[in-house]
Amino acid sequence: MHTPADSAVAIQGLHKKFKESHALCGVDLQVRQGEVLGLLGPNGAGKTTLVKILTTLLKPDSGHVLVNGWNVTADPEKIRSTIGMAGQYSTVDGLLTGFENLYLIAKLRGVGRRTARRNAEDLLARFRLSGVAGRPAGTYSGGMRRRLDLAAALVGSPPLVVLDEPTTGLDPESRLDTWDAVGELVAGGTTILLTTQYLEEADRLADRITVIDAGRVVADGTSDELKAAAGNRLVVCVAEDHQLDAAARAAARATGVTPMVDRRARRVEAAASDGPAALGRALTALEDEGVQVLEIGLSRSTLDDVFLGLTGRARHRAA
Ligand SMILES: Nc1ncnc2c1ncn2[C@@H]1O[C@H](COP(=O)(O)OP(=O)(O)O)[C@@H](O)[C@H]1O
Ligand SMILES: [Mg+2]
Repeated sequence: MHTPADSAVAIQGLHKKFKESHALCGVDLQVRQGEVLGLLGPNGAGKTTLVKILTTLLKPDSGHVLVNGWNVTADPEKIRSTIGMAGQYSTVDGLLTGFENLYLIAKLRGVGRRTARRNAEDLLARFRLSGVAGRPAGTYSGGMRRRLDLAAALVGSPPLVVLDEPTTGLDPESRLDTWDAVGELVAGGTTILLTTQYLEEADRLADRITVIDAGRVVADGTSDELKAAAGNRLVVCVAEDHQLDAAARAAARATGVTPMVDRRARRVEAAASDGPAALGRALTALEDEGVQVLEIGLSRSTLDDVFLGLTGRARHRAA
């Protein structure tokens, strides 16, 4: 366990139950100073519950939760003054302008008028919102609103920023936009805990990924470590449609698992836990089956494969 001195967040044995559902069942999690931790999990995994507990909006049933060295149960006010938060749903006021939203938050944080104005203006510029600063936030596009949410989380330069599903529900362009904005926070040295259902997002933004499912941590590591742990994939492409079944049989024999068959791409793919050895067996098996191979090889698992292996289901595509 890291000491509070080098951990922005240190969680041990965290439990939280709602009436009928056990949302968190003994979660351990660390966010080190200066890193971006991606908390990855499908809908209902417990991400928002965890985020609410560490931002002091919800009390834990049991477990130990330290944020910036403070205990969530004993010192919630200290924590609130050292974190910035952007929730799963936009919290900016649509009737107020972008500038007014940020200015008010700065004032609420006890900053003087002149400093509050300067903070708001700096953040608007940083998130490319200066041009729309005087417009009510309700008239912003989804991506602009998300940028304003991120800017709001940064008022007062908190050392830790918590972002709950920052891109869920955004169109692809706004998602890229938000990734850029998060990238800017990272460049500025802010410690970030970011939740997501998107593997691609965790892969792109996070230094380390903790995967949760049904209230439990199921894996933890860098995306490379997670991919390596999932092993290689055997990939075989054949020249003729009618050879696909024979290729699938050969791949099954070589790997011991049921392969995935992509008929359109004339491609057979299977997890190969012993990598090169499986490739050797596959070559033999394919020859036995008389398959004319167009392409054969081992590829590294993707985070999709990792996620599927860990949670037993494909990722949810949020609307
Ligand atoms: N206020 C609540 N009352 C009852 N059940 C809840 C409440 N909040 C969350 N849950 C349940 O806890 C589980 C985890 O939810 P949540 O933390 O929102 O997951 P995620 O953010 O990963 O989608 C879900 O089964 C959800 O239905
Ligand atoms: Mg959630």
